[in-house]
Amino acid sequence: DMPVYVAYSSAHVLNTLRAKGLPAKNLPQVLADLSAEGFTHIAVQSMHVVPGLEFDIAKDIISRFQAMPKGDTAITLGVPLVASHEDAERVAGLLFASLPAERGAKDAVVFVGHGAVTQNGSLAYPALQCFLAGLDRRLFVGTIEGPFTLENTLTKVDAAKVERMWLIPLLTVVGDHAQNDLFGDDDGSWKQAFIKAGIPVVMSKRGLTAVPGLAAVWADHADAALKELE
Ligand code: CO
Repeated sequence: DMPVYVAYSSAHVLNTLRAKGLPAKNLPQVLADLSAEGFTHIAVQSMHVVPGLEFDIAKDIISRFQAMPKGDTAITLGVPLVASHEDAERVAGLLFASLPAERGAKDAVVFVGHGAVTQNGSLAYPALQCFLAGLDRRLFVGTIEGPFTLENTLTKVDAAKVERMWLIPLLTVVGDHAQNDLFGDDDGSWKQAFIKAGIPVVMSKRGLTAVPGLAAVWADHADAALKELE
């Protein structure tokens, strides 16, 4: 029973949507519009997977808004999907529950995320890896940037003596990173690297928003941000 607006943090996505004539806005634009419309309480919910650079930027934008002269809008920020060890355990459980039915017991599954350079963001991936391994030792987390590089992941999967591997994005949607870095036909993609190493690859082209139950984790974080406004 409250209005919901969407803000995009990626300049690439903003430009693509605007080129199609869609009225896409970034976070400063949405916040400015809402305060001009008279909203006094705004909960911002991050739809990022980990607290990486984009999340830090959102935090910075919000604190600058709050510091604005005559600014009387209360703004809170809900954390990304994996922001605590509780989140990591919950998300690992949901990923495990949503494994493809055709996956054999000797198949590895590699969930590949974006990777992060921030402290909290880079630690979210090892946390997730730890809980996944506790459920099934052939489940792996990889990242396009650090901490778990393609080479590092390849070595681990190879050592696990698997029959084939399932390549699944740990990304919100199947966008540019998934299509090119993971599933691309060019040398350097994750798919090609595993095939080259002699490990057959099965691609699962689904984003995290398609994993049953996962949206509730973001929604719970939004609830917390709303409660903080009270
Ligand atoms: Co990127």
